[in-house]
Parts: sequence; structure tokens; C-alpha cells
Amino acid sequence: MDEVTFRSDTVLSDIHMHVPSKRHLMVRLNTAGQPVFLSQFKLLLSKSRRKLEKKEKDFKKQDAKCRQTYGKKLEEEEEGKQNDSAGERKAPEGIEALLDEDGDLEVVRKPRLPSEEAEDLSRDKVCPIILTKGRDVLEEEEHEDKSCDVIKIEHTMATPLEDVGKQVWRGAFLLVDYILSERDLFKDCTVLELGGGTGIVSIAMATAAKTVYCTDIGEDLLDTCKRNVALNKHLSEPAGSKVKVRMLDWLRDEFCTDPDIRYSWSDQEIAELHDLTTVILAADVFYDDDLTDAFFRTLYRITHNLKKPCSVYLSIEKRLNFSLRHMDVACEAYSHFRDTLNDLANIRDGKMRYYVEPLGLSFPQHIVYERVEQLELWKITASSDL
Ligand SMILES: C[S@@+](CC[C@H](N)C(=O)[O-])C[C@H]1O[C@@H](n2cnc3c(N)ncnc32)[C@H](O)[C@@H]1O
Repeated sequence: MDEVTFRSDTVLSDIHMHVPSKRHLMVRLNTAGQPVFLSQFKLLLSKSRRKLEKKEKDFKKQDAKCRQTYGKKLEEEEEGKQNDSAGERKAPEGIEALLDEDGDLEVVRKPRLPSEEAEDLSRDKVCPIILTKGRDVLEEEEHEDKSCDVIKIEHTMATPLEDVGKQVWRGAFLLVDYILSERDLFKDCTVLELGGGTGIVSIAMATAAKTVYCTDIGEDLLDTCKRNVALNKHLSEPAGSKVKVRMLDWLRDEFCTDPDIRYSWSDQEIAELHDLTTVILAADVFYDDDLTDAFFRTLYRITHNLKKPCSVYLSIEKRLNFSLRHMDVACEAYSHFRDTLNDLANIRDGKMRYYVEPLGLSFPQHIVYERVEQLELWKITASSDL
């Protein structure tokens, strides 16, 4: 595949915003005939993170020095101007110091932000690495030495809107960062992820939690998710945890328990989910108002049936779109999400209470990506009101 072809309903996550180079080969076609790529997302271990943080610090020092020098020069220039107007025609020293021997102005460049460098790095790291043609990646991986600081994800590139789960979205990276920063919070927990897509968030969660139910819809997507879970056993096995890939459709009121349908639930799993779950996750699932409503109905139904209080973590990227209705740039999906969050916080039905709060994003980055300011993380604490 030399270039990505876009249709009017095609979407491409920024994470995959690269045309694969000609020498690369995709790993396979999925059952929908879409090319599948394998990307390796390197986890920044504390050593590499410390390096990035040190660079950030050095940058700030350099930047402050730069500003000081500029400030001084500007002050001197200002003084020079005043002297000029007072009739003393003297070249301002500050300006002279900025000229080279030929009299050309030497522009002192601001040092590059480490995050700008990280962005460059991310463009290398996040770009799909395409493996050998015709051989099964899982088989190949079995023989390979597993590096425990890499998450391997199979995904497609540009997809129609109904297949967005086959790509990785930035909100997933934000949630992965939070999980890896707060691993102790999730140790030995039972966790449910809604709209898990490729499974990257559940896979990260499995480095701490005991059981993770990664749920979504569509056999093809659930197959990809299951493959990704298998590709990343090196991350879950040391923690002794398991990721179970299951079907959970927000547009249906019940769990699918039909044994003839793949990814359906056993009665025991449903009972365990209700008895043990204390954490629910969802990354980047608020892009369509009807689906957002369906998501929150599902969230209410599940949390209402849980035996224990539960923390819900939701990541979202506030996307700006031109809206014909407003004749301006608006984030309608985001506004609807916020309205629905408000409604949830205001529920007073005598059954459930929801406490909603935004979380600060000062936790470190564990994956190299652009943590844009439109990213947000919300926490909901759900408990019974009885
Ligand atoms: C933008 S993707 C996000 C995927 C993944 N969480 C990530 O951030 O990479 C939205 C996800 O919501 C899922 N979804 C959409 N409608 C759904 C429904 N009715 N029930 C369950 N999941 C649904 C999609 O299949 C998709 O995986």
C-alpha cells in the first residue's frame, strides 16, 4: 500500500497520520479486506523519561537565560532610543552586540522544546513498522525475544467511521499514561473497558490489574483486539493478570450470553464482573451524540448493578469542527459529552450517586506522542445512594 485513499466518510487517527513508505509491507488483510499494520509503541521507562524531563529542565534554564539576554538588550535599545531623541546620536550597544562583523543581524534562535523533539521522535516511533509478508506475526513473535518495554498493536489505517475502533486514538495514549503512572491504584483490581478498540488501554491495565474485560462490538475488531492481547502477553504475564475480550454493545440492554456467538459472556463472568469490578475505563468514545447517550445509559446500568463503589476514567479529545448549524468552529460532540456528564452528576434518583471531576494532566508521559491541550481526563466516582 503506497498511499492512503480517503473517502468522504474516511477517518484517520493522528497517531497513524503517515503514509507507509514503499519498502514496508503490511502484515495481513483483515476479514473486511482492510490492510493491517503492526506498530510498536515504545514505553518510556523511568530512565528515558528522566532523560526527557532533564531535557525539559535544561530547556527551561536555557529559555530563561535567552529571555534575560533579550530583555537586557531591549532595555538597552530602549535607553539608546531615548538618548537619540535627546540629541545624543550614539549607536545602542545592545544592537551592536547583535550584529556580526559584516554588520548583519545575528538572530539568536530559541532552543527547541524537548516536547518538539519528542514529537519528531514520535513521528518515527509511531509510524507503522510493517513486518514480513506471508508469515504469521503471532508465530514469529513466539520465537522472538520479547522486549518488556514495547506494546505491539495491530491496527488498520484510514477507516470508515464505523470501523474507528481498528485504529489507535490519542485519548487511549493519555489513559495508558495515567494507568502506568498510577499502577498502585489498580493493583489486583477487576476492570471493565468500554469501547476498547485495539485493546491498547486494557493491555496497559493488565500490567497492574488482575482481570480486565476489554469490550467492544464487531467480530473483526474483537479478533484484532484478541490478537493484540496475545501479542502483548509479555506485559500481562509477569503481573499474573488476564485480559478477556468480550462483546458489549451500548445499544443493547443485556450482555450477550449466546454460546453460539463468539465473544459472548458466561453467566459466571457476568456475576464476577458485578461482584468484583471497581474500575471502568473508556478512551475516546464520545464522537456521536446518540452513542454518547447509549454509553451513559450502559454506564448507569452497569454501575447500578455493581456490588462495590467504582471509579470511572474517561479520556476525550476535544475536536473542533466547522458546524453548519453554528456557522462557526464548534466542538458539538464535546459539548454533548459535558452536558451528559452534568446530567449524571445531578442524578438524584435515590439509587446512585455520581461525583464527577476533571483530572490534572501533570502525570508523566510513558508513550511518545503529542499530548495536545485538547486532551482531557475525567474521573467519575459511582456509588450506591442507599
Ligand atoms: C474512536 S474509537 C476508540 C477506540 C479505543 N478506545 C482507542 O481510543 O483507541 C471508539 C470505539 O467505540 C466503539 N463503539 C462504537 N459504538 C459502540 C457500541 N454501540 N457499543 C460498544 N462500543 C462501541 C467503537 O467500536 C470503537 O472501538
